[in-house]
Amino acid sequence: MRVLVTGGTGFIGSHTVVELINAGHEAVIVDNLYNSDIHVLDRIEKITGVRPEFFETDILDFEGLEKVFQAHEYDAIIHFAGYKAVGESVAKPLVYYENNISGSLNLYHLAAKYNVKRIVFSSSATVYGDDFEAPFKEEYGYGTTTNPYGTTKLFNERILTDLAFADKELSAVLLRYFNPIGAHKSGLIGEVPNGIPNNLLPYIAKVANGQLPYLSVFGDDYDTVDGTGVRDYIHVVDLARAHVKALDYAMNHTGAEVINIGTGKGYSVLQVLHAYEKACGKEIPYKIVARRPGDIATCYADPSKAKKLLGFETQYDIEEMCEDGYRFSSQNPDGIK
Ligand code: NAD
Ligand code: UD1
Repeated sequence: MRVLVTGGTGFIGSHTVVELINAGHEAVIVDNLYNSDIHVLDRIEKITGVRPEFFETDILDFEGLEKVFQAHEYDAIIHFAGYKAVGESVAKPLVYYENNISGSLNLYHLAAKYNVKRIVFSSSATVYGDDFEAPFKEEYGYGTTTNPYGTTKLFNERILTDLAFADKELSAVLLRYFNPIGAHKSGLIGEVPNGIPNNLLPYIAKVANGQLPYLSVFGDDYDTVDGTGVRDYIHVVDLARAHVKALDYAMNHTGAEVINIGTGKGYSVLQVLHAYEKACGKEIPYKIVARRPGDIATCYADPSKAKKLLGFETQYDIEEMCEDGYRFSSQNPDGIK
């Protein structure tokens, strides 16, 4: 299959491109390099022996994006491109709605015009909001999103569901990711946050590398195993493999389908911190501080639908997630350049 991958030089996109190539597919990447580096292509080539075709194009540029559709016929699209910083989305909602909604609409217009009938979309567990109790099940539908980033994910799910209702040949697989972490075993690709990280694992990695002094643990008074927040961390290579399975599913089904992609297990902040300490062989200093506004106590998936529909199960545990994440961040402390 030839697959158009928007955001394919990013964290999850690059790992997915590797798994697509490993599975015998051809990946064509569109990315404007807003949050990734061109040298990711060298790394993908080093891992797979294949250099994917790359278009440095902003999906907001309709004419530029149309050239990508004119260059080839595509069997499917995996749509990763978007902004993802929750706090920034609260401060700059228009920027988020513009990029994550208008950009997606351009893509969906062109998919329709050029007859691409299979779309896999990067959604997030954030669409459950704080209305439900873990484990989160797809049948819960949507909660009340707590920030514009989350709302852009919810809107994309709705838009694709409406498109699949109107076009009975369309298949839209809406993957709700839980917390992707870790990196490829080669240590060549991984997560490169811009500036001071907002998310837990990139922050811990910088403390382990000596680039930040200590981790602030946001609250130890939640109703959880040790009072700190519990999340469903999933190895990014497992998540990437889920996309290959989702494409296989989309080949044989039509309509819109929401599917959780998580492990079904939750780990607290302190449990993750200790797993990372074991992986890097160093103590990670931390301080307990106030809760972060908008955080919930516990978030983990019911992963049974992914198993049933996609035949997908995770392979890697929290130890390997931390080992692989540490290998990448210690070998690339300043990112991929
Ligand atoms: P990332 O920032 O590493 O990758 C996104 C890529 O999209 C980047 O390479 C960026 O340059 C590109 N991009 C952004 N706007 C673009 C535009 N207008 N035109 C072209 N390219 C553009 O992020 P990621 O962690 O790989 O996430 C991929 C997708 O998964 C995003 O949609 C994100 O919201 C979603 N998601 C991520 C997580 C997570 O924890 N990382 C969780 C749930 C959902
Ligand atoms: C966040 C987003 C979510 C997004 C996901 C991946 C919020 C409310 N949610 O999820 O929409 O899909 O990132 O980008 O922002 N923590 C600390 N110290 C830190 C950082 C985090 O204690 O410096 C704790 C948090 O309180 C939480 C856990 O670590 O309990 C995980 O946090 P994080 O990695 O930011 O992910 P989420 O909040 O689950």
